[in-house]
Amino acid sequence: TRRIALLTSGGDAPGMNAAIRAVVLAAQHYQAEIYGFYHGYNGLLNNEFTLLTQADVQGIIHRGGTILKSARCQEMRDEQGVKQAVNVLLKNKIDALIVIGGDGSFNGLIAISKQWQGQVIGIPGTIDNDIDGTDFTIGFSTAVNTGIEAIDKIRDTADAFDRVFLVELMGRHSGHITFNVGVSCAAEQILSFENFQAKDEKKLLNKIAKQITDAQQKRHSSYLIVIAENLWPGGSQALANNLKQLTGIDCPLCTLGYIQRGGSPVAKDRLLATKMGVAAVQAINNGQSNMMIGEQNNSMLLVALSTAIQHQKQVSQTLVEAQENIFALTEKN
Ligand code: F6P
Repeated sequence: TRRIALLTSGGDAPGMNAAIRAVVLAAQHYQAEIYGFYHGYNGLLNNEFTLLTQADVQGIIHRGGTILKSARCQEMRDEQGVKQAVNVLLKNKIDALIVIGGDGSFNGLIAISKQWQGQVIGIPGTIDNDIDGTDFTIGFSTAVNTGIEAIDKIRDTADAFDRVFLVELMGRHSGHITFNVGVSCAAEQILSFENFQAKDEKKLLNKIAKQITDAQQKRHSSYLIVIAENLWPGGSQALANNLKQLTGIDCPLCTLGYIQRGGSPVAKDRLLATKMGVAAVQAINNGQSNMMIGEQNNSMLLVALSTAIQHQKQVSQTLVEAQENIFALTEKN
C-alpha cells in the first residue's frame, strides 16, 4: 500500500476540510493510506500524525478551518528544518506528500523535493487567490461571500445615515478579494493593487475627497470605499484620517480582518476542494511529482509547483475593465 502524508499549511481557508475529506476518500478508493500531519509543517518536524480513515472525515465538508490544524513554519525556511522534515518522511516510509496551502507552503514542498525521492503534490488553498495556474484557490469564493455579506450590512447603516465608510479587506499583497467584493457591493470606490500607484496618492486622495463631499452635500447618499490591506502608504487608517481632514466628514475605517478566513465553505469551494483532492491522489497514482493541482476553464490540470509560485496571479482583466466602464458612468453623473 502507498503511504501518503497530508498536511494543511499557512493561512487556513474554508474548504480545506472538504479537500482533506476528498483526499482521504479517494485514497481509500485507490487503496492508499493517508497519514495526516498536524499543525502544518510543524507536524512533520515533530513527527505528530494520525492515520486518517473514512470515519475521521465524516461530517467535515461543511466546516471552516482545518481538522489537521495549520501553522506558518519558520523552520522550513532553513536547510536544517527541511532535513528534519525529510528524515521524518523517511522514518515513516512515506511515499508521497500532499500539502494544502499557499505559496509559502509550496516553497516548503519544493525544498523537500530537492532532498527526498518521494512524490510531492500541492493543492492551492488560500483565501487570497494569488496562486498562478489555477483560476481559483480553495477558500477564495467563501471569503468573497463573507466580505459581501459584511459590506451589505455596512451599506444598510451607511444608507440610513448617508455616511461614508472605508472598509479594509484581506488578501496580503493581492487584490482579488477587494476587487471582487468591491464590484459585488457596488462600492463607490475600489482601491486595490490593480488600480493604485503610490505616486498618484495625492491626486487620488483629492479626487475621493471631492466625490465624498459631492455625495454628501448634493445627493445625500452613502459612499463606500473598499481597500486592500497593505495597499495605502502608512496604512488604511492614514487614508481615513486624511479624508476626514480634507472633507471634514467622518470616514470610519472598518477592518473586516480574520472574519474572512472562517465560516462554512460555499458550494464553489466545496466542489473545487473535492475535485482537487481527488485529482491529487490520482496524480500520485500516475507517478506525478512537483506539481500543483489547478483548475482552468472548468478542467483539472497539473501545473509545475515552480510555475505556480513564480508570479502572483492578476485579477481578471475582464472584471477590471467592467468596473472601469461602470465607474466612468457614475463619475459623469
Ligand atoms: O494568506 C491568508 C491571509 O489571511 C492574508 O489575507 C493575510 O494577509 C494573512 O493571511 C494574515 O496572516 P496571519 O494569519 O499570519 O496573521
